[in-house]
Amino acid sequence: MILIIDFGSQVTQLIARRLREAGFYSEIMPSTSDVNKYLVKNPKGIILSGGPNSVTQIDTPRAPYEIWNSVPVLGICYGQQTLCEQLGGKVETGINREFGRAKLDVIADCPLFYNLPKGTDFDVWMSHGDHVSELPDGFKVVACSAGAPFAAIADHKRRYYGVQFHPEVAQTNGGTQILKNFAELICNCEKGWSMVTYKYQAIQKIKEQVGKSGQVICGLSGGVDSSVTAVLLHKAIGERLTCVFVDHGLLRKGEAEEVIKLFGNHLNIKLIHKDASNFFLSKLKGISNPEQKRKIIGASFIDVFTEEAQKIEGAEYLAQGTLYPDVIESISISGGKHVTIKSHHNVGGLPEHMRLKLVEPLRMLFKDEVRLLGKELGLPKVLIDRHPFPGPGLAIRIPGSISSDKINVLRDADAIYLEEIRKAGLYDEIWQAFAVLLPVKTVGVMGDQRTYEYVCGLRAVTSTDGMTADIFPFTTEFLAHVSTRIVNEVSGINRVVYDYTSKPPGTIEWE
Ligand code: XMP
Repeated sequence: MILIIDFGSQVTQLIARRLREAGFYSEIMPSTSDVNKYLVKNPKGIILSGGPNSVTQIDTPRAPYEIWNSVPVLGICYGQQTLCEQLGGKVETGINREFGRAKLDVIADCPLFYNLPKGTDFDVWMSHGDHVSELPDGFKVVACSAGAPFAAIADHKRRYYGVQFHPEVAQTNGGTQILKNFAELICNCEKGWSMVTYKYQAIQKIKEQVGKSGQVICGLSGGVDSSVTAVLLHKAIGERLTCVFVDHGLLRKGEAEEVIKLFGNHLNIKLIHKDASNFFLSKLKGISNPEQKRKIIGASFIDVFTEEAQKIEGAEYLAQGTLYPDVIESISISGGKHVTIKSHHNVGGLPEHMRLKLVEPLRMLFKDEVRLLGKELGLPKVLIDRHPFPGPGLAIRIPGSISSDKINVLRDADAIYLEEIRKAGLYDEIWQAFAVLLPVKTVGVMGDQRTYEYVCGLRAVTSTDGMTADIFPFTTEFLAHVSTRIVNEVSGINRVVYDYTSKPPGTIEWE
């Protein structure tokens, strides 16, 4: 494996993703970890990530000396700077700053650039205020850019490499190839990371953890993470898995039925379907504050789930679809207090007193890897590639107080919108698309009659991780067609608007 030591860059996770895409297993650990924690991983190579600090200041993080002598090291941006400074070179702040796209000039042979074009036509992504101004002994220049005379450097003998640019971001040409070259040619790693092997290993691990008689509960939401978790568990322990599907009545049209059909009937997984829609609706009655809605749904979910789980005799384990980004120990750079924008609710959490042991077979996976694993497990594409859906469901797509009538109106409008998006072949280009039912009535005219109905908002964004998002640019014709269908076919809505707000300043969901 390749160990990535994280100095706090926003894009450290991408290094691991790129390596894994290329077939090489990698893990991320914070630069503040104890050095023994790195060594027990027995890495075949180490990558030092970028970070927001300056090595020209004291008390900024460094890479422990214990890692220098054993394996190849690649420093990226801050990682390159600390590598040089720690080995006797110099780093300066100042004139040679570069942010954004830059042209790289590759001037010498280096295995890092194997299979990549030499010369000046090489776009890379830079983001640095500091730069290396003097190389440590043993290093030579491999590539330079306008603002970085040492944009790529190498000490072939000791197998130390550094790049000032970010090979992990999409804007760098051949960035994945550079990381692949480091793993394959410099560290001599073998390709062993694929979802085919992961599947068998994960099933084996579950068997070992749960033993021959352990009973497991798994909260199923219909989303990809919990679905993949459930199918893996089922393959490992069969009948000893019971899934609990708490239907809060806030799913999209036809979704609850799909979950029951797929897991209960088709895959033959023991499934408890708890229709708690009336319970949730009564709890949410008259509540219009978004945070209050989220908190009520989160707490009610745990109440219902706990009650159902307690009925399952002998259950000792709880399976959860925890993903790698939730597990990576992040280092706080600012040390400041985070502002809560929204309190998230996710399926699966149980109160401490139930004392169930956790089974988390997706702990080492990124979301795109979970999708690949889902495909490997034979889950249908409609489920695997489905747009993300928030735990509190349609309740946060109906600003103001909710009712079953409003939920039904929204479901119908949302289904038409998604049907048209699929028909137009746009579904996979969009990160998330959904309808919102606004708490506003407007006057309209239909068949010479006055109408006074709700407004429906349509939202569609592109994004890579949900942290930032852009508006999806539908054609006017498409939006007009969807609008006509919704107003004609959904009684309760007489006006449709399209949301033209990116994130930031908006959020993806309306509440
Ligand atoms: P926002 O609205 O914060 O959403 O821009 C970012 C992404 O997170 C999803 N989301 C949630 N997912 N539980 C979830 O599991 C939640 O409470 C929740 N709230 C928002 C949202 O759909 C988008 O993909």
